[in-house]
Amino acid sequence: MFRSAIRTSLSKPQVASQRFSSGGSRGLKILAILYRGGDAAKQEPRLLGTVENELGLRSWLESQGHEYIVSDDKEGPNSVFQKQIQDADILITTPFHPGYVTPEVFNKAKNLKVCVTAGVGSDHINLNTAIDKKVQVLEVTGSNVTSVAEHVVMNMLLLVRNFVPAHEMIERGDWDVSQVARNAFDLEGKVIGTIGAGRIGHRVLQRVLPFNPKELVYYDYNPLPEEAAKAVGARRIDTVEELVSQCDVVTVNCPLHEGTRGLINADLLKKFKPGAWLVNTARGAICDKFAVADALKSGQLRGYAGDVWDVQPAPKDHPWRAMKNPLGGGNGMVPHYSGTTLDAQQRYAAGTKSILEKYFQGKEQEPANVIVGIGKWATKAYGQR
Ligand code: NAI
Repeated sequence: MFRSAIRTSLSKPQVASQRFSSGGSRGLKILAILYRGGDAAKQEPRLLGTVENELGLRSWLESQGHEYIVSDDKEGPNSVFQKQIQDADILITTPFHPGYVTPEVFNKAKNLKVCVTAGVGSDHINLNTAIDKKVQVLEVTGSNVTSVAEHVVMNMLLLVRNFVPAHEMIERGDWDVSQVARNAFDLEGKVIGTIGAGRIGHRVLQRVLPFNPKELVYYDYNPLPEEAAKAVGARRIDTVEELVSQCDVVTVNCPLHEGTRGLINADLLKKFKPGAWLVNTARGAICDKFAVADALKSGQLRGYAGDVWDVQPAPKDHPWRAMKNPLGGGNGMVPHYSGTTLDAQQRYAAGTKSILEKYFQGKEQEPANVIVGIGKWATKAYGQR
């Protein structure tokens, strides 16, 4: 009876404007797909985004009579995810270990009304189907953008300065300055460009400005506000092809959607300046994994770094794990963790709670957190439509 009350209230026209009514605040089934933290999560309670620490939500949710199911088991028809989604009202998942909500999953999820991304980036959800099914997609916008921007700057520096092979040499017990210095440069004086100049892209531009680059450029169909562009002195470029042909360092900071999947492919890589560096902490599938590995191997790219992979966890034989440039370096890949520092986890756990609280109380969500409203797009960041 309670569930039908939810459906009735959500189908009323007044709730179609991002005003949510849960039809009461008791008795919902909330499913969270999070990553397993193991001993680390037992020893470090601030690892909130793990199965063990459950975003810190269990006692709060249960005290209100909600059912809270948390698991990392998400692959295959018999997984906890696939079984429990069938009658879940709310799905919470993170981009670090995403429960992929495909059209088939939507078809099974008869009660699903809200998907909450604990973090930023909701491409693991088929957003067009979410619109058709009138399932809202909410994320904790801004929660980890500074964490990622810092990681991007670190990646630029470690590639340009050839840090990883230099450190590996020290661990091996060797000492050969020329061997690492022969491929080490300064960030100063380079042309640095971002594909996507939203919250993260803009923060990257702000953070690299003090390195005294030759020029900062960006490509985005949504221009930076005039004041923001002026403050960082960034020139807007009309096409992605032009951008990559002018940059020494390219960083990808746009969401994954139909217009960016495979954007950086063999054709586009040929248009990069020979020996450019590429940093991608946005989403793995924006780059063609084999084309990137080939470009690094040939030296067309001098380096590639980031933390995002086209499927996560990345398979052991993923070409980005061990790819190298002709001098044996140029790989700065790590697991997906740039946006899940302990500081970020505190912010996205608190933000998830705030989204749920608003939903339970029938209050309007923060507009910036709404990716898909009821039956419609609410963001302009997922492609020109
Ligand atoms: P945002 O929404 O503030 O900015 C995204 C920008 O990309 C927008 O200005 C949009 O117009 C632009 N854009 C979209 N399609 C484009 C295209 N085809 N070409 C150029 N620009 C395009 O998003 P925010 O917060 O900056 O995050 C960006 C992405 O970074 C997220 O969608 C997510 O995929 C990724 N991310 C990764 C994290 C990590 O831990 N590695 C953590 C947080 C976000």
